[in-house]
Amino acid sequence: MARLSVNVDHVATVRQARQASEPDPVTAALMAEIAGADGITVHLREDRRHIQDRDLFILRKTIKTRLNLEMSAAKEMLDVALGVKPGMVTIVPEKRRELTTEGGLDLRAHHEHLKGFTSALKDGGISVNLFIDPSPDIVKMCQRLGADGVELHTGRYAGAPARKERDAELKKVRDCASLARRLNLKVHAGHGLDYSNIKEVAQIGEIEEFAIGFSIIARSVYTGIEQAVREMVALVR
Ligand code: PXP
Repeated sequence: MARLSVNVDHVATVRQARQASEPDPVTAALMAEIAGADGITVHLREDRRHIQDRDLFILRKTIKTRLNLEMSAAKEMLDVALGVKPGMVTIVPEKRRELTTEGGLDLRAHHEHLKGFTSALKDGGISVNLFIDPSPDIVKMCQRLGADGVELHTGRYAGAPARKERDAELKKVRDCASLARRLNLKVHAGHGLDYSNIKEVAQIGEIEEFAIGFSIIARSVYTGIEQAVREMVALVR
């Protein structure tokens, strides 16, 4: 049975739109847990456009499930992670001008840096996943880099314009999930998943956890966050 980690970044997006104190992603995270979320994910971006350091510190102290910190492989972020000690870190590529994370990590270009970065986190007792495009070569590189697991980027599957492309992307995710599992890597997936496109990926038994944010927070505007999380938990399981 797969787990759901709810990404609460976009609660903070609304708060930051007015530089206000509400809505608070910490409150949203606690309500998501009450509704059955298995974990909470936040992306502390270098430009702090949504989640703030304060959110991370309070979440670490208050949530009962696992905190997954998404972050870039920058020195500043390593210091934050080693100070906060979330249950796990997912290393993601980050560009200042993107609307959201656009693709998986470029492991070839940053191999040595990522190897050292991953081992520094692991030495600090933090489990490390690498956010990657679903390609077999890249999955194999994650194992050589010493990562605990992968998060397979489902953005291309989710955004595929037609059935044919979507099936091709789904096959890539399925094949990489089974390869990663054979290599003893933990298998997570996320990006662009919603109440409809989750159904097919949720059938891939090797995927242990989904990180889903935007669609849940968007629905919660209408239904409230508990209802929105409950519905996604049911689909993921
Ligand atoms: N996984 C990663 C690595 C991400 O960067 C994001 C977006 O912050 C998500 C999952 C969640 O994506 P979405 O908000 O589209 O559900």
